[in-house]
Amino acid sequence: MRRTRSPDGHLSEVVPVRGERAAQPTGAPLPAGIGESEFKIAMRQVACSVAVITSRAGSHVNGLTATAVCSVSASPPVILVCVNKGASAEAIIAESGVFAVNFLTEEQHLVARLFSTSKLSPEERFAEGRWQPQVTGAPVLDGALASFDCVVENCIASGTHNIYFGRVVAAESLDQEGLIYRDGSFRRLAPVT
Ligand SMILES: Cc1cc2nc3c(=O)[nH]c(=O)nc-3n(C[C@H](O)[C@H](O)[C@H](O)COP(=O)(O)O)c2cc1C
Repeated sequence: MRRTRSPDGHLSEVVPVRGERAAQPTGAPLPAGIGESEFKIAMRQVACSVAVITSRAGSHVNGLTATAVCSVSASPPVILVCVNKGASAEAIIAESGVFAVNFLTEEQHLVARLFSTSKLSPEERFAEGRWQPQVTGAPVLDGALASFDCVVENCIASGTHNIYFGRVVAAESLDQEGLIYRDGSFRRLAPVT
């Protein structure tokens, strides 16, 4: 078991889950993990909402398109994001301790493409749409489907990614259709009739 401490001194326990190497009360051998390509083939079929995670540390600002974003808790409001350790924005989140999650509408698919095109400059990325700081200073997109401005509470490394848990300090939303990603392409939601 590990414990992590947030900036305000609050301690969180990270309890080992079934399959974690440290916890094998039965002594049974763990099953071998599946391969990367098998994992990716299955994950391609899963439809996800598309967000852009942004952060700012002083004059450094950047962001990335992300689908690995999840609501964790409503009381207190906490959201998690999984950020590749090699992403340009990762070091900025780590340094500043803040990030904003901007879920996109269907019309904002160009923003998703800009923030997922490798190593584009921040100037090129933020040229599309109007971005403004709210509480933390991380850029928030005007007209986003839903935005969550967050302060990092803790961070857990897992494989190639760091998982950041953010306490939500401001949120906005609009009643619009959200952008979806599945099987390698951006898509619209359609009602099941
Ligand atoms: C639909 C989609 C979802 C993505 N989701 C994530 C994600 O959840 N986490 C992540 O680290 N990268 C994700 N990526 C990859 C990053 O957007 C991409 O690597 C980006 O170029 C990183 O920014 P950088 O080039 O400035 O390093 C996703 C890409 C796409 C197209």
